[in-house]
Amino acid sequence: MANERPMVEFQDVSKVYSGGTVAVEQVSLSIYPGDFVCFIGTSGSGKTTTMRMINRMLEPTTGQIMFNGQDIHGQEPVQLRRKIGYVIQNIGLMPHMTIYENITIVPKLLKWPDERRRKKAEELMRLVELPLDFLDRYPSQLSGGQQQRIGVVRALAANQDLILMDEPFGALDPITRESLQDLVQNLQQSLGKTIVFVTHDIDEALKLATKVVVMDGGHIVQAATPAELVTHPANQFVRDFIGEDRLLQARADVTTVGAIMLGQPVTTQPGQSLDDAIKLMRDKRVDTLLVTDDGGHLKGILDLAALDTHYRRATSVADIMDTKVFAVREDALLRDTIDRILKRGLKYVPVVDDQHRLRGIITRTALVDLVYDTIWGKAAGEDGDGDD
Ligand SMILES: Nc1ncnc2c1ncn2[C@@H]1O[C@H](COP(=O)(O)OP(=O)(O)OP(=O)(O)O)[C@@H](O)[C@H]1O
Ligand SMILES: [Mg+2]
Repeated sequence: MANERPMVEFQDVSKVYSGGTVAVEQVSLSIYPGDFVCFIGTSGSGKTTTMRMINRMLEPTTGQIMFNGQDIHGQEPVQLRRKIGYVIQNIGLMPHMTIYENITIVPKLLKWPDERRRKKAEELMRLVELPLDFLDRYPSQLSGGQQQRIGVVRALAANQDLILMDEPFGALDPITRESLQDLVQNLQQSLGKTIVFVTHDIDEALKLATKVVVMDGGHIVQAATPAELVTHPANQFVRDFIGEDRLLQARADVTTVGAIMLGQPVTTQPGQSLDDAIKLMRDKRVDTLLVTDDGGHLKGILDLAALDTHYRRATSVADIMDTKVFAVREDALLRDTIDRILKRGLKYVPVVDDQHRLRGIITRTALVDLVYDTIWGKAAGEDGDGDD
């Protein structure tokens, strides 16, 4: 994508309304073909203004906007809008036109023959799984969610490459909303559309966007992929916006075991005498020792209880160590291992590399403190030990 030409490019764009309100200030942003850009931010931060400048519903006060490499200032607004779909909340459909007429407004403007328009409308209805006889109804004869579905369909009808959507699903119930999100996402991917989308809903943005643009007071605070945003929020505003829960969840999703393990656990070797092992435990104030060979490979674990039971019958660590050690890989994601670790109720778990060499340990206490109670909101120790 890097070498591709942006489809839309904001170059130092500002918008000052006639009353003097600075709605957008010095915005620079590139939107590439196939991008799903979600603008999100506080109310009044300039999202709608930014979006509406793309199709010249509003004019920038300073700066330039390029569309496919050409300054839109030199382009006839009506012509430009035929290349750019627009979906808005509720008022999108013309009440006195049938669904068919609504869907084919732009194709009609583009003077497509009747037959081609009809074919396109039917194809799109099938695509979004609405019955064909809806085509003859009026918008008021459809539910809100169905109308919004038609709004999406209409934006796709003219084969426009770029579609602007300003909070299209804001007023819908969560289930309808989710199904429309899926619809738009599928269509965007299968038809290769470029979408610019405004939302108030951070979950919606994180779900749909390839690039999230966070706005505050007319400025872009951060423009990043959802993954970058949740792992590297630019500042406290973005962190607050995303919310602590999502940030922690995201951290578990990308944090490896290696990143939180403690290095240099206390180790012994199989050939060591039990007397030395006991002395080591006492010196280091630990009740378990990890057993490694000369190459650092994890061979077993020795704990105080085993020493107690077997001390008289054994002489070396190898005689009584437990060789069935549950270990986790340092490159494993916390997300994938955390449950297994916690369910076993072990006080700590050795961490190994791909050669099974001991790299460190993660302690249950540290895990609980660091992640578990914060991510899942459970208090430390509440989750029952060792019943796995
Ligand atoms: N026609 C206008 N004349 C004067 N000021 C305006 C006009 N339209 C918007 N504004 C102001 O410009 C700023 C940005 O408005 P905009 O509609 O772009 O915000 P928004 O981010 O879309 O907000 P919301 O999330 O509430 O939709 C606000 O302070 C708003 O009051
Ligand atoms: Mg708005």
